[in-house]
Amino acid sequence: MTAQRPLLELIGIEKSFGQLQALKTCSLEVQEKETVVLIGPSGSGKSTLLRCVNLLEPPDRGNILFKGKDIGRDLRAAPLIRQEIGMVFQNFELFQHLSAAENIMLAPMKVLGLSRLDAHDIALGLLRKVRIPDKADSYPDELSGGQQQRVAIARALAMKPAVMLYDEPTSALDPEMIREVLDVMAELSAEGMTSIVVTHEMGFAKRAADRIVFMEAGQIVEIANSADFFGGTVNARARQFLDQILH
Ligand SMILES: Nc1ncnc2c1ncn2[C@@H]1O[C@H](COP(=O)(O)OP(=O)(O)OP(=O)(O)O)[C@@H](O)[C@H]1O
Ligand SMILES: [Mg+2]
Repeated sequence: MTAQRPLLELIGIEKSFGQLQALKTCSLEVQEKETVVLIGPSGSGKSTLLRCVNLLEPPDRGNILFKGKDIGRDLRAAPLIRQEIGMVFQNFELFQHLSAAENIMLAPMKVLGLSRLDAHDIALGLLRKVRIPDKADSYPDELSGGQQQRVAIARALAMKPAVMLYDEPTSALDPEMIREVLDVMAELSAEGMTSIVVTHEMGFAKRAADRIVFMEAGQIVEIANSADFFGGTVNARARQFLDQILH
């Protein structure tokens, strides 16, 4: 079998905020259909790396190849890229004045030019997919955190992205809601959605990740297959971090 070109290639990404070097030559390849879980201490650069991938934060140096094309060079193309790279945030970031269905319909109508009727059909299908089929007309403040996050996932999926990025999608949720969101994400991964997930939910990582990436102080310190990582063959620093979050 010939090796496939990775869907996403980060090559030597660097990013500073003033004096602070948030990312120091980070390189990572993500294959199509792969799920990568990104872990590391607070401030290690996980969010910054995700934000670079969908160009919310343009890198200072390095290349981001998506489907073999360098997307970091021309930021005017960023809105187009973001259609293909969906992102889900810790705090959902739904439009409060729009219903669940309307939140999902917005981009397909505005960006793809779909009719209201077609966009509504898509929204209903996606709400079924994220297991809240009866919440189409509910507003965000009428939904639980877990339901809001699933609307946010559905909203990202509405653009038919090639990659999903999740930045601590369950860390603002009460424990009983974490599972329902992780289940939806795991199902998407199992169906072949290429994903990069920043999470400390190691149960999810065990279940859904193909590889685990450990970051520290702006650097990718370790990239391991999930089985190796959980089997114990990880570097000492990653092991120490794991012990901290598991106990
Ligand atoms: N917009 C910004 N302006 C200035 N500094 C920033 C900005 N965004 C991030 N940083 C800094 O860059 C470093 C990496 O931040 P980042 O948010 O990527 O870390 P993280 O690994 O996601 O942490 P956490 O687990 O707390 O979310 C931190 O020191 C942070 O303070
Ligand atoms: Mg973060």
